[in-house]
Amino acid sequence: MKILLVTAHPRPTSLCHATAQAFAKAAEAAGHLVQRADLAAEGFDPVLREADEPDWDNPDKVYSPEVQAEIARIEANEATVMVFPVWWWSMPALLKGWIDRVWNNGWAYGGATYPHAKVLMLAVAGGSATSFAKRGYDAAMLTQIETGILRYCGVQDPALHMLYDSFEPEGRTALLAKAAEIGATL
Ligand SMILES: Cc1cc2nc3c(=O)[nH]c(=O)nc-3n(C[C@H](O)[C@H](O)[C@H](O)COP(=O)(O)O)c2cc1C
Repeated sequence: MKILLVTAHPRPTSLCHATAQAFAKAAEAAGHLVQRADLAAEGFDPVLREADEPDWDNPDKVYSPEVQAEIARIEANEATVMVFPVWWWSMPALLKGWIDRVWNNGWAYGGATYPHAKVLMLAVAGGSATSFAKRGYDAAMLTQIETGILRYCGVQDPALHMLYDSFEPEGRTALLAKAAEIGATL
């Protein structure tokens, strides 16, 4: 399968990039092709401006050249995997803006569905599973991301994987292993 691997972290030495790399290495070993989309390194602008605002009366609206290029990059692949750090119990603005702008009316929803049946999200979190469950952050993220975005856009096989304990050495080891397992068993 051709996989678009989207990362949204400013630092190449981050655990997020290591997590994406662990996923990619295992996925490639399993025979998949992985194309990297490093939104921070590429300088993707996450701000939705007028050119990319949905026109509710026109699902055929042609969006900005930057968004058209992202659409073409997605359509050249068969699955999307996004790896990001949990910031404020959510995704970084960079990734949110990529979705705001690119997953647009008439193409990802609004008489259309996102072109990939399989979309995975790997969320790297500093907190523990217990701390997330205590206040319902895990359920909130699942509802917002998996139901509110992926299923809303018609993704048939969506998954948000929470990778916890990124501040703990054992947690880092475990989450890198989990990312590799996800890549190997895609
Ligand atoms: C702005 C910001 C907000 C954060 N918010 C959360 C949070 O809400 N929950 C959490 O568990 N960790 C939070 N963290 C910790 C990150 O998830 C943690 O830094 C990351 O998992 C570590 O991996 P990295 O090296 O890829 O940054 C936050 C970090 C930053 C910088």
